[in-house]
Amino acid sequence: MSLRLVHPLAGPLARRAAAAAPAPIVPSSRSTATKSSQAYIARQKTDPFVASRGSFRSRAAFKLLDLAKKYRLLRSSVKTVVDLGSAPGGWSQVLTQAGRGSRTVVAVDLLDMEKVEGVHFVKGDFLDPRTRLRIRDYLLAEGGKNGHNRADLVLSDSTANLGCDGPSYGTAD
Ligand SMILES: C[S@@+](CC[C@H](N)C(=O)[O-])C[C@H]1O[C@@H](n2cnc3c(N)ncnc32)[C@H](O)[C@@H]1O
Repeated sequence: MSLRLVHPLAGPLARRAAAAAPAPIVPSSRSTATKSSQAYIARQKTDPFVASRGSFRSRAAFKLLDLAKKYRLLRSSVKTVVDLGSAPGGWSQVLTQAGRGSRTVVAVDLLDMEKVEGVHFVKGDFLDPRTRLRIRDYLLAEGGKNGHNRADLVLSDSTANLGCDGPSYGTAD
């Protein structure tokens, strides 16, 4: 008589478990990233500005901090600011933080922008007269807050959409 040793995990139970298990994730040998996007990601990893971005949504925020210091852009008399081409929102963050919440900031962009506390976001093309009307209407409505209904400062960091250095953000209200 011959004895056949069968491991319990080699039986039907094991076959059922194997069938139910999700397919293993096998890393693809082919990368879908192009050479230039790989180079971009590598540069981002070693870019000291990206590393020090901190709580700002974009490193562009440091550019505005420098400009503001050099040209005294954010003095206390500047109560209402329009930020044209605002997404992902680094400049808007600087503007509202420097104003300690008392400044009226209207941000405008073609892209969605995640809400920045204390910033009113208008989604649209600032070259479009309808967008300009929406900005004007908001300033008129806000007028009482700062004693006037016009912008003290209009800033623009707008560029063609080649991908700013922040992620895409959701819809703001
Ligand atoms: C360099 S990013 C701005 C970065 C922003 N200053 C920050 O600190 O996060 C340029 C932005 O300009 C916007 N833009 C370009 N042309 C525009 C237009 N005509 N109307 C509205 N936004 C525009 C783009 O959608 C893009 O989000």
